[in-house]
Amino acid sequence: MARLDVAEMICGIMLPGHIHTQESLQFALKFPFQDTDTLIVSYPKSGTTWMQEIVTLIYSRGDPHLNKTVPNWVRAPWLEQYYCAPLLEDSSTTPRVITTHLPHHLLGPALQGSKAKVIYVSRNPKDVVVSFYHFHKMANFLPEAGTFPEFLNRFLGDTLHYGSWFDHIKGWTSQTAAMENLLHITYEDMLLDRHGAIKRISSFLQCPLLEEEVNNCVQHSSFSNMKNNKMVNYTLVTDEIMDHSKGSFMRKGKTGDWKNMFTEEQNQYFESVFKSKMQDCTLEFVWEVQDKEETPAKEHIQQENTDV
Ligand code: A3P
Repeated sequence: MARLDVAEMICGIMLPGHIHTQESLQFALKFPFQDTDTLIVSYPKSGTTWMQEIVTLIYSRGDPHLNKTVPNWVRAPWLEQYYCAPLLEDSSTTPRVITTHLPHHLLGPALQGSKAKVIYVSRNPKDVVVSFYHFHKMANFLPEAGTFPEFLNRFLGDTLHYGSWFDHIKGWTSQTAAMENLLHITYEDMLLDRHGAIKRISSFLQCPLLEEEVNNCVQHSSFSNMKNNKMVNYTLVTDEIMDHSKGSFMRKGKTGDWKNMFTEEQNQYFESVFKSKMQDCTLEFVWEVQDKEETPAKEHIQQENTDV
């Protein structure tokens, strides 16, 4: 199934036809969740793969065997992707770990009444858009990235594949009061204190771990370990699908990389759209974490912004 140039549309949202079909989307919308399921939810580039790694490690009590022998898309498949149905049919694993990028207004009805545990992962949207831009350059199943200014406009205008980041985060996080089985955790939480984040997640999953097991989860979910693990760094995917000469899936793994990309004008424009679209939302974001790296030279920002 190549379909690299095909898009599937659902309720106005475009998704890559390489991994989605109308049947697979309908399968997701009508999915009979089991109370024992764990569902990882995110907008792309928010730390999905990282959460898949952490959840697998927690359920394995810190033992990395599964993480090192089974690709992430098999041990935590995306519900809406076409290979998910047969995978789940063949699986007898409990709890099942399932992933989705679908917004709440599409998946909420299927989840209604279910006690499945939902982990919503978010990331500050400036880093999301930069990470997504670089991913578009290597992922041949996504449309051309274009220039960064064009891409940023598409992100802010809600016209990228996977739909609106704004609707996604508002839709899911507005459920935190109503859905007691929903944990919202951010990429920045995981970056600033992975140990604490893993303890929070394991407690939410009702899978308490010994300190040594937590430490093993911390170690095996580090950026460097994941970057070197072919079960999670997407190097198993052929160059036809993801051109590895154009970038790496495990790219930088930092917070604040947007500063290397945004011009002052773009930042102001972003802030104004953000303010208007998020006015009904009280979430706070960590936009950067101070580290020892120097502020990038202005010329570098200039070049990225004109690069076609
Ligand atoms: P960058 O492109 O900014 O490096 P997703 O899995 O939702 O597609 O998100 C991918 C982003 O998560 C990439 O961000 C990737 O590097 C980052 N990431 C994955 N594993 C990570 C880890 N262990 N630590 C920090 N960042 C990680």
